[in-house]
Amino acid sequence: MKSVLITGGAGFIGSNFAHHALARRPDWSITVLDKLTYAGNPKNLCSLETNPRYRFVHGDIADPQVINSLFSKGLDMVFNFAAESHVDRSIECSNAFLRTDVYGVHTLLEAARRWPVYRFLQISTDEVYGSVRERAFREDAPVRPSNPYAASKAAAEALAHAYHATYGVPAIITRATNTYGPRQYPEKLIPLFITNALEGRPLPLYGNGDQIRDWLHVNDHCEALLHLVDHARTGDIYNIGAANERRNLDIAHLILEQLGQPVSLIRPVEDRPGHDRHYALDCAKLSALGWRAYIPFERGLRDTIAWYRHHPSWWGPLKSGAHAHYYQRQYGTEVFQPPDRLRGIR
Ligand SMILES: NC(=O)c1ccc[n+]([C@@H]2O[C@H](COP(=O)([O-])OP(=O)(O)OC[C@H]3O[C@@H](n4cnc5c(N)ncnc54)[C@H](O)[C@@H]3O)[C@@H](O)[C@H]2O)c1
Repeated sequence: MKSVLITGGAGFIGSNFAHHALARRPDWSITVLDKLTYAGNPKNLCSLETNPRYRFVHGDIADPQVINSLFSKGLDMVFNFAAESHVDRSIECSNAFLRTDVYGVHTLLEAARRWPVYRFLQISTDEVYGSVRERAFREDAPVRPSNPYAASKAAAEALAHAYHATYGVPAIITRATNTYGPRQYPEKLIPLFITNALEGRPLPLYGNGDQIRDWLHVNDHCEALLHLVDHARTGDIYNIGAANERRNLDIAHLILEQLGQPVSLIRPVEDRPGHDRHYALDCAKLSALGWRAYIPFERGLRDTIAWYRHHPSWWGPLKSGAHAHYYQRQYGTEVFQPPDRLRGIR
Protein backbone atom coordinates (compact mmCIF):
# COMPACT_ATOMS: atom_id res chain seq x y z
CA MET A 1 0.00 0.00 0.00
CA LYS A 2 1.35 3.46 -0.92
CA SER A 3 0.93 6.19 1.65
CA VAL A 4 -0.29 9.40 0.00
CA LEU A 5 -0.76 12.84 1.56
CA ILE A 6 -3.28 15.19 -0.06
CA THR A 7 -3.11 18.66 1.45
CA GLY A 8 -6.03 21.02 0.91
CA GLY A 9 -8.15 17.94 0.20
CA ALA A 10 -11.33 19.47 1.59
CA GLY A 11 -11.30 22.15 -1.12
CA PHE A 12 -12.47 22.00 -4.70
CA ILE A 13 -9.72 20.24 -6.69
CA GLY A 14 -8.23 18.43 -3.69
CA SER A 15 -11.52 16.78 -2.74
CA ASN A 16 -12.22 15.76 -6.33
CA PHE A 17 -8.69 14.37 -6.46
CA ALA A 18 -9.17 12.39 -3.22
CA HIS A 19 -12.32 10.74 -4.68
CA HIS A 20 -10.64 10.19 -8.04
CA ALA A 21 -7.42 8.74 -6.64
CA LEU A 22 -9.17 6.34 -4.25
CA ALA A 23 -11.26 5.05 -7.15
CA ARG A 24 -8.39 4.81 -9.62
CA ARG A 25 -5.52 3.64 -7.39
CA PRO A 26 -6.56 0.66 -5.21
CA ASP A 27 -3.07 0.45 -3.73
CA TRP A 28 -3.14 4.00 -2.35
CA SER A 29 -3.95 4.81 1.24
CA ILE A 30 -4.81 8.50 1.51
CA THR A 31 -4.47 11.07 4.28
CA VAL A 32 -6.21 14.36 3.65
CA LEU A 33 -4.76 17.25 5.62
CA ASP A 34 -6.80 20.44 5.62
CA LYS A 35 -7.01 23.57 7.76
CA LEU A 36 -10.70 23.95 6.89
CA THR A 37 -10.58 27.62 5.97
CA TYR A 38 -13.76 29.18 4.53
CA ALA A 39 -12.94 27.25 1.30
CA GLY A 40 -12.52 23.84 2.93
CA ASN A 41 -15.70 21.87 3.39
CA PRO A 42 -15.91 18.54 5.26
CA LYS A 43 -19.06 17.74 3.25
CA ASN A 44 -16.79 17.30 0.23
CA LEU A 45 -15.27 14.23 1.85
CA CYS A 46 -18.09 12.74 3.94
CA SER A 47 -18.81 9.92 1.48
CA LEU A 48 -15.21 8.71 1.97
CA GLU A 49 -15.47 8.36 5.74
CA THR A 50 -16.20 4.63 5.68
CA ASN A 51 -13.35 3.88 3.27
CA PRO A 52 -10.55 2.09 5.19
CA ARG A 53 -7.99 3.61 2.80
CA TYR A 54 -8.94 7.17 3.79
CA ARG A 55 -8.40 9.34 6.84
CA PHE A 56 -8.73 13.04 7.58
CA VAL A 57 -6.39 15.22 9.64
CA HIS A 58 -7.39 18.74 10.59
CA GLY A 59 -4.25 20.88 10.42
CA ASP A 60 -2.19 23.60 8.80
CA ILE A 61 0.58 23.00 6.24
CA ALA A 62 2.47 25.90 7.84
CA ASP A 63 2.55 24.11 11.22
CA PRO A 64 5.85 22.14 11.40
CA GLN A 65 4.61 19.99 14.26
CA VAL A 66 1.66 18.61 12.28
CA ILE A 67 3.71 18.26 9.11
CA ASN A 68 6.70 16.59 10.74
CA SER A 69 4.47 14.13 12.53
CA LEU A 70 2.86 13.10 9.21
CA PHE A 71 6.13 12.85 7.27
CA SER A 72 8.03 11.05 10.03
CA LYS A 73 5.63 8.11 9.77
CA GLY A 74 6.68 7.63 6.13
CA LEU A 75 4.99 9.00 3.02
CA ASP A 76 5.36 7.86 -0.58
CA MET A 77 3.68 10.79 -2.30
CA VAL A 78 2.55 14.31 -1.52
CA PHE A 79 0.03 16.30 -3.57
CA ASN A 80 -0.01 19.85 -2.30
CA PHE A 81 -3.33 21.49 -3.16
CA ALA A 82 -3.50 23.55 0.05
CA ALA A 83 -3.57 27.22 -0.77
CA GLU A 84 -5.37 30.47 -0.42
CA SER A 85 -6.68 30.43 -3.96
CA HIS A 86 -8.88 33.44 -4.70
CA VAL A 87 -7.24 36.32 -6.60
CA ASP A 88 -9.73 38.96 -5.43
CA ARG A 89 -9.12 38.09 -1.79
CA SER A 90 -5.36 38.36 -2.34
CA ILE A 91 -5.87 41.87 -3.72
CA GLU A 92 -7.85 42.80 -0.59
CA CYS A 93 -5.19 41.37 1.77
CA SER A 94 -2.35 38.98 0.94
CA ASN A 95 -1.04 37.97 4.40
CA ALA A 96 -2.74 34.57 4.44
CA PHE A 97 -1.52 33.94 0.89
CA LEU A 98 2.12 34.40 1.87
CA ARG A 99 1.66 32.31 5.01
CA THR A 100 0.04 29.30 3.33
CA ASP A 101 1.15 29.46 -0.29
CA VAL A 102 4.79 30.29 0.49
CA TYR A 103 5.64 29.51 4.12
CA GLY A 104 3.33 26.45 4.13
CA VAL A 105 5.07 25.07 1.03
CA HIS A 106 8.44 25.74 2.65
CA THR A 107 7.32 23.74 5.71
CA LEU A 108 6.28 20.82 3.50
CA LEU A 109 9.53 20.91 1.54
CA GLU A 110 11.62 21.00 4.71
CA ALA A 111 9.83 17.86 5.88
CA ALA A 112 10.31 16.20 2.48
CA ARG A 113 14.01 16.99 2.73
CA ARG A 114 14.21 15.29 6.14
CA TRP A 115 11.92 12.32 5.42
CA PRO A 116 12.30 11.57 1.68
CA VAL A 117 9.25 10.84 -0.45
CA TYR A 118 8.98 9.24 -3.90
CA ARG A 119 7.10 12.19 -5.50
CA PHE A 120 6.13 15.70 -4.36
CA LEU A 121 3.56 17.40 -6.60
CA GLN A 122 3.29 21.13 -6.17
CA ILE A 123 -0.05 22.09 -7.73
CA SER A 124 0.48 25.49 -9.32
CA THR A 125 -1.32 27.66 -11.82
CA ASP A 126 -1.06 29.22 -15.27
CA GLU A 127 -1.51 32.58 -13.50
CA VAL A 128 2.21 32.61 -12.69
CA TYR A 129 2.91 33.52 -16.36
CA GLY A 130 0.70 36.62 -16.34
CA SER A 131 -1.27 37.64 -19.40
CA VAL A 132 -0.31 36.01 -22.69
CA ARG A 133 2.15 37.98 -24.81
CA GLU A 134 3.01 36.87 -28.37
CA ARG A 135 2.06 33.21 -28.16
CA ALA A 136 0.86 30.52 -25.76
CA PHE A 137 3.29 29.97 -22.89
CA ARG A 138 5.62 27.01 -22.82
CA GLU A 139 7.02 25.91 -19.48
CA ASP A 140 10.29 27.77 -20.13
CA ALA A 141 8.59 31.17 -20.51
CA PRO A 142 9.47 33.70 -17.80
CA VAL A 143 6.98 34.06 -14.96
CA ARG A 144 5.40 37.50 -14.50
CA PRO A 145 2.66 37.20 -11.89
CA SER A 146 0.23 40.13 -11.91
CA ASN A 147 -1.53 39.70 -8.55
CA PRO A 148 -0.48 38.67 -5.03
CA TYR A 149 -2.06 35.20 -5.37
CA ALA A 150 -0.09 34.45 -8.55
CA ALA A 151 3.07 35.88 -6.95
CA SER A 152 2.67 33.61 -3.92
CA LYS A 153 2.26 30.57 -6.19
CA ALA A 154 5.33 31.58 -8.23
CA ALA A 155 7.34 31.87 -4.99
CA ALA A 156 6.18 28.38 -3.97
CA GLU A 157 7.31 27.03 -7.35
CA ALA A 158 10.71 28.65 -6.89
CA LEU A 159 11.06 26.94 -3.51
CA ALA A 160 10.05 23.56 -4.92
CA HIS A 161 12.56 23.99 -7.73
CA ALA A 162 15.30 25.01 -5.29
CA TYR A 163 14.61 22.07 -2.97
CA HIS A 164 14.85 19.72 -5.94
CA ALA A 165 18.14 21.23 -7.12
CA THR A 166 19.71 21.59 -3.66
CA TYR A 167 18.39 18.62 -1.69
CA GLY A 168 17.03 16.28 -4.35
CA VAL A 169 13.40 16.59 -3.24
CA PRO A 170 11.55 14.86 -6.13
CA ALA A 171 9.31 17.85 -6.86
CA ILE A 172 7.10 18.11 -9.94
CA ILE A 173 5.38 21.42 -10.59
CA THR A 174 2.07 21.54 -12.44
CA ARG A 175 0.60 24.72 -13.94
CA ALA A 176 -3.04 24.13 -14.75
CA THR A 177 -5.53 26.46 -16.35
CA ASN A 178 -8.86 27.57 -14.83
CA THR A 179 -10.55 24.49 -13.46
CA TYR A 180 -14.32 23.99 -13.09
CA GLY A 181 -16.68 21.26 -11.90
CA PRO A 182 -18.65 20.14 -8.84
CA ARG A 183 -17.82 21.34 -5.29
CA GLN A 184 -16.12 24.60 -6.30
CA TYR A 185 -16.65 27.40 -3.79
CA PRO A 186 -19.21 29.84 -5.21
CA GLU A 187 -16.85 32.83 -5.27
CA LYS A 188 -15.14 31.56 -8.45
CA LEU A 189 -16.59 32.59 -11.82
CA ILE A 190 -18.45 29.48 -12.97
CA PRO A 191 -20.06 28.44 -9.65
CA LEU A 192 -20.82 32.09 -8.82
CA PHE A 193 -22.60 32.59 -12.13
CA ILE A 194 -24.44 29.26 -11.94
CA THR A 195 -25.68 29.77 -8.38
CA ASN A 196 -26.61 33.43 -8.98
CA ALA A 197 -28.50 32.41 -12.13
CA LEU A 198 -30.30 29.64 -10.20
CA GLU A 199 -31.36 32.27 -7.65
CA GLY A 200 -32.32 34.78 -10.37
CA ARG A 201 -29.65 37.19 -9.06
CA PRO A 202 -27.33 39.39 -11.18
CA LEU A 203 -24.09 37.95 -12.57
CA PRO A 204 -21.26 40.41 -11.79
CA LEU A 205 -18.98 40.50 -14.83
CA TYR A 206 -15.61 42.26 -14.64
CA GLY A 207 -15.15 45.03 -17.22
CA ASN A 208 -16.63 44.07 -20.56
CA GLY A 209 -16.14 40.32 -20.02
CA ASP A 210 -13.58 39.90 -22.78
CA GLN A 211 -11.02 38.15 -20.54
CA ILE A 212 -10.09 34.79 -22.03
CA ARG A 213 -9.40 31.66 -20.00
CA ASP A 214 -8.78 28.03 -20.98
CA TRP A 215 -11.34 25.97 -19.01
CA LEU A 216 -10.32 22.53 -17.77
CA HIS A 217 -12.77 20.08 -16.18
CA VAL A 218 -11.70 19.01 -12.69
CA ASN A 219 -11.78 15.29 -13.63
CA ASP A 220 -9.36 15.99 -16.48
CA HIS A 221 -7.17 17.97 -14.06
CA CYS A 222 -7.15 15.03 -11.59
CA GLU A 223 -6.37 12.51 -14.32
CA ALA A 224 -3.48 14.67 -15.55
CA LEU A 225 -1.97 14.65 -12.04
CA LEU A 226 -2.18 10.85 -11.87
CA HIS A 227 -0.56 10.66 -15.28
CA LEU A 228 2.24 12.99 -14.20
CA VAL A 229 3.01 11.12 -11.01
CA ASP A 230 3.70 8.07 -13.20
CA HIS A 231 5.44 9.71 -16.16
CA ALA A 232 6.85 13.15 -15.31
CA ARG A 233 10.50 13.91 -14.70
CA THR A 234 11.24 15.22 -11.25
CA GLY A 235 12.43 18.83 -11.16
CA ASP A 236 10.28 19.63 -14.20
CA ILE A 237 7.30 21.90 -14.78
CA TYR A 238 4.23 20.76 -16.73
CA ASN A 239 1.43 22.89 -18.16
CA ILE A 240 -2.05 21.33 -17.97
CA GLY A 241 -4.70 22.79 -20.28
CA ALA A 242 -7.77 21.77 -22.24
CA ALA A 243 -7.36 23.89 -25.41
CA ASN A 244 -10.75 25.33 -24.57
CA GLU A 245 -10.44 29.11 -24.59
CA ARG A 246 -13.59 31.12 -23.80
CA ARG A 247 -14.41 34.72 -23.01
CA ASN A 248 -15.95 35.26 -19.56
CA LEU A 249 -18.88 36.96 -21.30
CA ASP A 250 -19.52 33.84 -23.39
CA ILE A 251 -19.46 31.67 -20.26
CA ALA A 252 -22.11 33.94 -18.73
CA HIS A 253 -24.25 33.61 -21.86
CA LEU A 254 -23.93 29.81 -21.92
CA ILE A 255 -24.92 29.49 -18.25
CA LEU A 256 -27.92 31.80 -18.62
CA GLU A 257 -29.02 30.00 -21.77
CA GLN A 258 -28.81 26.57 -20.13
CA LEU A 259 -30.78 27.81 -17.12
CA GLY A 260 -33.38 29.65 -19.21
CA GLN A 261 -32.48 32.99 -17.62
CA PRO A 262 -32.33 36.38 -19.43
CA VAL A 263 -29.09 38.03 -20.57
CA SER A 264 -30.25 41.10 -18.63
CA LEU A 265 -28.99 39.37 -15.46
CA ILE A 266 -25.41 40.16 -16.55
CA ARG A 267 -24.12 43.20 -14.63
CA PRO A 268 -20.76 44.69 -15.65
CA VAL A 269 -18.76 45.76 -12.60
CA GLU A 270 -15.51 47.68 -12.32
CA ASP A 271 -12.63 45.55 -13.55
CA ARG A 272 -10.22 43.85 -11.15
CA PRO A 273 -6.91 45.77 -10.82
CA GLY A 274 -4.06 44.03 -12.67
CA HIS A 275 -6.58 41.74 -14.36
CA ASP A 276 -4.82 39.50 -16.87
CA ARG A 277 -6.64 39.64 -20.21
CA HIS A 278 -5.72 36.28 -21.61
CA TYR A 279 -4.13 33.06 -20.40
CA ALA A 280 -3.01 30.47 -22.94
CA LEU A 281 -0.78 27.45 -22.49
CA ASP A 282 1.24 25.31 -24.85
CA CYS A 283 0.74 21.79 -23.46
CA ALA A 284 2.95 19.90 -25.94
CA LYS A 285 5.20 18.65 -23.11
CA LEU A 286 2.30 16.93 -21.36
CA SER A 287 0.82 15.67 -24.66
CA ALA A 288 4.18 14.06 -25.44
CA LEU A 289 3.68 11.97 -22.29
CA GLY A 290 0.40 10.68 -23.75
CA TRP A 291 -2.16 12.78 -21.89
CA ARG A 292 -4.96 14.97 -23.19
CA ALA A 293 -8.18 16.45 -21.80
CA TYR A 294 -11.23 14.33 -22.67
CA ILE A 295 -14.26 16.18 -21.35
CA PRO A 296 -15.86 18.53 -23.92
CA PHE A 297 -16.72 21.89 -22.36
CA GLU A 298 -20.41 21.81 -23.30
CA ARG A 299 -20.87 18.47 -21.53
CA GLY A 300 -18.68 19.45 -18.55
CA LEU A 301 -20.60 22.70 -18.07
CA ARG A 302 -23.98 20.99 -18.43
CA ASP A 303 -23.01 18.38 -15.79
CA THR A 304 -21.63 21.08 -13.49
CA ILE A 305 -24.85 23.11 -13.77
CA ALA A 306 -26.84 19.94 -12.99
CA TRP A 307 -24.68 19.29 -9.93
CA TYR A 308 -25.31 22.80 -8.50
CA ARG A 309 -29.00 22.53 -9.36
CA HIS A 310 -29.24 19.30 -7.37
CA HIS A 311 -27.09 20.40 -4.41
CA PRO A 312 -28.53 23.69 -3.14
CA SER A 313 -27.91 22.48 0.41
CA TRP A 314 -24.17 22.38 -0.41
CA TRP A 315 -23.85 25.94 -1.77
CA GLY A 316 -26.83 27.74 -0.19
CA PRO A 317 -25.27 28.11 3.28
CA LEU A 318 -21.92 29.14 1.75
CA LYS A 319 -23.53 32.21 0.18
CA SER A 320 -24.80 33.65 3.44
CA GLY A 321 -22.90 34.96 6.49
CA ALA A 322 -19.25 35.86 5.91
CA HIS A 323 -19.51 35.24 2.17
CA ALA A 324 -22.41 37.70 1.84
CA HIS A 325 -20.27 40.41 3.52
CA TYR A 326 -17.33 39.60 1.26
CA TYR A 327 -19.60 39.68 -1.81
CA GLN A 328 -20.94 43.12 -0.89
CA ARG A 329 -17.43 44.46 -0.28
CA GLN A 330 -16.21 42.98 -3.54
CA TYR A 331 -18.97 43.99 -5.92
CA GLY A 332 -20.66 46.77 -3.90
CA THR A 333 -23.65 48.49 -5.33
CA GLU A 334 -22.21 48.17 -8.85
CA VAL A 335 -23.69 44.72 -9.07
CA PHE A 336 -27.14 46.25 -9.03
CA GLN A 337 -26.47 48.56 -11.93
CA PRO A 338 -29.17 48.42 -14.56
CA PRO A 339 -28.62 46.34 -17.70
CA ASP A 340 -28.19 49.40 -19.96
CA ARG A 341 -24.47 49.25 -18.95
CA LEU A 342 -24.46 46.20 -21.22
CA ARG A 343 -24.85 48.29 -24.38
CA GLY A 344 -21.97 47.61 -26.73
CA ILE A 345 -21.01 44.34 -25.00
CA ARG A 346 -21.90 41.32 -27.08
N1 LIG B 1 -9.28 26.40 -9.12
C1 LIG B 1 -8.50 26.58 -10.17
O1 LIG B 1 -8.97 26.99 -11.24
C2 LIG B 1 -7.03 26.26 -10.10
C3 LIG B 1 -6.30 26.24 -11.30
C4 LIG B 1 -4.94 25.92 -11.24
C5 LIG B 1 -4.34 25.66 -10.02
N2 LIG B 1 -5.06 25.71 -8.87
C6 LIG B 1 -4.38 25.36 -7.60
O2 LIG B 1 -4.95 24.16 -7.15
C7 LIG B 1 -4.97 24.14 -5.73
C8 LIG B 1 -6.39 23.86 -5.25
O3 LIG B 1 -7.24 24.89 -5.73
P1 LIG B 1 -8.80 24.90 -5.35
O4 LIG B 1 -9.48 25.69 -6.38
O5 LIG B 1 -9.22 23.53 -5.06
O6 LIG B 1 -8.73 25.74 -4.01
P2 LIG B 1 -9.79 25.82 -2.81
O7 LIG B 1 -9.70 27.23 -2.30
O8 LIG B 1 -11.10 25.29 -3.23
O9 LIG B 1 -9.21 24.81 -1.72
C9 LIG B 1 -8.07 25.09 -0.96
C10 LIG B 1 -8.08 24.14 0.23
O10 LIG B 1 -6.87 24.37 0.97
C11 LIG B 1 -7.20 24.42 2.35
N3 LIG B 1 -6.18 25.23 3.03
C12 LIG B 1 -5.98 26.57 2.92
N4 LIG B 1 -4.95 26.94 3.69
C13 LIG B 1 -4.48 25.80 4.28
C14 LIG B 1 -3.40 25.54 5.16
N5 LIG B 1 -2.60 26.52 5.62
N6 LIG B 1 -3.19 24.27 5.56
C15 LIG B 1 -4.00 23.26 5.12
N7 LIG B 1 -5.03 23.46 4.29
C16 LIG B 1 -5.26 24.72 3.87
C17 LIG B 1 -8.58 25.04 2.40
O11 LIG B 1 -9.24 24.76 3.63
C18 LIG B 1 -9.23 24.37 1.20
O12 LIG B 1 -9.80 23.14 1.56
C19 LIG B 1 -4.42 25.47 -5.27
O13 LIG B 1 -3.07 25.29 -4.92
C20 LIG B 1 -4.55 26.37 -6.48
O14 LIG B 1 -3.52 27.34 -6.49
C21 LIG B 1 -6.39 26.00 -8.88
